[in-house]
Amino acid sequence: MENVKEISIEKAIEKAIVQAPVFDKIAKFYFVIDLMSISFFNRVVREIPKHLDFDIENTINANILDVCCGTGLLSRYLTKLSDRVVGVDISPKMIAKAKRAAKKLPVYFGVMDATSLDFPDGSFDLVAISRGLHAMPKETRDNAVKQAHRVTSSHALFIEPVRRPKSRISRAIHDFAERAEGGFENYIEFVEIDFSEYLTSFGFLPKLMIKESNSEVYLCKKL
Ligand SMILES: C[S@@+](CC[C@H](N)C(=O)[O-])C[C@H]1O[C@@H](n2cnc3c(N)ncnc32)[C@H](O)[C@@H]1O
Repeated sequence: MENVKEISIEKAIEKAIVQAPVFDKIAKFYFVIDLMSISFFNRVVREIPKHLDFDIENTINANILDVCCGTGLLSRYLTKLSDRVVGVDISPKMIAKAKRAAKKLPVYFGVMDATSLDFPDGSFDLVAISRGLHAMPKETRDNAVKQAHRVTSSHALFIEPVRRPKSRISRAIHDFAERAEGGFENYIEFVEIDFSEYLTSFGFLPKLMIKESNSEVYLCKKL
């Protein structure tokens, strides 16, 4: 992709909105979720190039943004596709963990609110949000998706739990995790919506890339 805009990352991070969300409190336990996500994220990142309309692996300076990046596991996998990956999250403690884990990988992390991304319009070739939307209140979620649409020039990746587990044990474990993350009521509301239609309503053309028992992964084209 030609004419990829330079991103003023330092400026954006400086203006970051810092809050003290619930994720600050659970950051030290999040490694459990990360361990369970390794093979899934590996699979997601292997699939992405097949669904883009440009050859990301042979694109110099493709910009990738991972919003609600948490401890940055997906961001680190995304460095397999580009050496210009940025991960942002509202939780300073999650970001601190992400920075420590990234070591020398070409990924830059900073604290930033998904609803007010401090990046220019269309400055990323691919914007990802993984499991960041389902626990947000509707208005916050809508604003985060609008921002993802604004800052991507071409594609976006969304990974979310779209169904509650069927088995009682699995459902109880998921419900416990969602309560611990502080967004249980929002999650219950989220699983009732048609996620593909929801993304379409924000100007994305969603393509179901991976369907799991509870989660779906959409690779979207910006319309
Ligand atoms: C369930 S974790 C997902 C982390 C990672 N993306 C993953 O898939 O494992 C949700 C993340 O969203 C972040 N988050 C919640 N609200 C946010 C907001 N308004 N702006 C940026 N990050 C937010 C939380 O701090 C948390 O790290």
